Amino acid sequence: MSSLLDEIKTGIIPKHIALIMDGNGRWAKQKNQPRIFGHQQGAVAVRETLEGALLCGVKCITIYAFSIENWNRPKEEVDGLMHLFIKACEDELPNLQEKHIAFKAIGNLSLLNQDCLASLQKVEQATCNNNALLLQVAISYGSRWEITNAAKNMAKDIVENKINIDDVDETLFGQYMLTDTNNDPDLLIRTSGEYRISNFLLWQLAYSELYFTNCYWPDFNKEALWKAIADYQKRERRFGKTSEQITTNK
Ligand code: IPE
Ligand code: IPE
Ligand code: MG
Repeated sequence: MSSLLDEIKTGIIPKHIALIMDGNGRWAKQKNQPRIFGHQQGAVAVRETLEGALLCGVKCITIYAFSIENWNRPKEEVDGLMHLFIKACEDELPNLQEKHIAFKAIGNLSLLNQDCLASLQKVEQATCNNNALLLQVAISYGSRWEITNAAKNMAKDIVENKINIDDVDETLFGQYMLTDTNNDPDLLIRTSGEYRISNFLLWQLAYSELYFTNCYWPDFNKEALWKAIADYQKRERRFGKTSEQITTNK
């Protein structure tokens, strides 16, 4: 058993970790391989990361698999990624069941092709009663789209008198977002040495701790996850309060 794992288990484990899995293309290029090879190895790193999360007791992982902006990549890469998502759904379902992981896809799923959508829905339905960990996959996802969509749906409910405009507050608005309002990420990890959010969970990340690593996503593994958690455990989350208030619990 890793000593790093033992060490982090003595501290507070983040309940929800969001991951911007970046650097697949550069990782492949370094190895003189096509970009899709990097994406394939990226899927292996997801499996590793889930194992690492289960071993230390993380309850939710949200991974950024494909952004709305990624639709603008060359057709060959987009097609390769869609094919990979379908294949990953097939290959990983037994693993998700064995480990009791529930799966949920979030994003503008109406832009996906039928085969891809059907694969995601199949895994979602098959795993809906699993409760060891929730894996949310952001696919065809953009945070500005999510917020705009939430505003649109809420406006519709106001017009149809389902809700009253005076009742609108952050909690009510949050209910129109695609993730659970009581389950914002505690920690965001981005790989590949880029320091940006790239339209990911802008609403939900309001008070998340941010962690950046130079490691390319296909090289990310259990130890890298635990290292990020160890770093998180050194932070003091103040939520606007003073350090004294936090330490004296007032
Ligand atoms: C992240 O890796 C995966 C997706 C965006 C689908 P990239 O494909 O962005 O890899 P780099 O950033 O070009 O190295
Ligand atoms: C963000 O990575 C999206 C995913 C990880 C799926 P990108 O590589 O697309 O991000 P930018 O465009 O470089 O910020
Ligand atoms: Mg990238």
